[in-house]
Amino acid sequence: MSTAAIIVAAGAGERLGAGLPKALVHLGGQPMIARAASAFVASASVEQIVVVAPPKFTDALHEHVPAEVQVVPGGATRQLSVTAGLDTLGPDVRVVAVHDAARPLVTPELIDRTVAALRPPWDAVAPALAVVDTLKAVDNRGVVLRTIDRTGVWAVQTPQVSSRAALERVHARVASDIGAATDDLSLVERAGGRVLLIEGDPANFKITHPVDLVLATRLVTSP
Ligand code: C5P
Repeated sequence: MSTAAIIVAAGAGERLGAGLPKALVHLGGQPMIARAASAFVASASVEQIVVVAPPKFTDALHEHVPAEVQVVPGGATRQLSVTAGLDTLGPDVRVVAVHDAARPLVTPELIDRTVAALRPPWDAVAPALAVVDTLKAVDNRGVVLRTIDRTGVWAVQTPQVSSRAALERVHARVASDIGAATDDLSLVERAGGRVLLIEGDPANFKITHPVDLVLATRLVTSP
């Protein structure tokens, strides 16, 4: 029985405005994908690592990851990209950690802690942080409709860890379903699975806007 990681990196990263896929954007002298992949290579709990790349950039990503990391082309949605990763897993893999390449500051410690937390009765586990901002529901013009009570509201990170069987089941189901899930836990929840959140890492934030890149660069280059 072994554990695999699927690092999804096939998004365009348009909000970052870098003009190339986000995974190839440099962070302190290294493309983001190199940082994320290295964290999984250094993790004691992961045996197989698959990076899912934008189809036109498969070779480019391959050049930037350690030799043991496989790189496969992704799909038009995050879900299809995860499916492409699932199709690449070896026969012994029983547990899968899905990670967004947009979180390059993930650590081996966080990966190991999340994988270790997947045990009965949980079907999936992910790191998360309590929301610190006040939350408002708005209409499409930004007019506030109501304030959402943030008590007990957590923002979810990746890696999201579940059994391979559960993940394959939910992805097969959504292939014929409507709507796009922004993460894998929501698919497991929709299928009635029991999901546990554990304490995340504030440094494992998602690089989305240009300022995130500035902050992450400071973090990796500060002495
Ligand atoms: O767009 P968003 O930031 O939510 O994307 C989350 C992750 O899913 C990113 O790491 C992105 O590269 C990945 N993704 C993908 N295939 C797509 C769309 C997004 O692998 N078609």
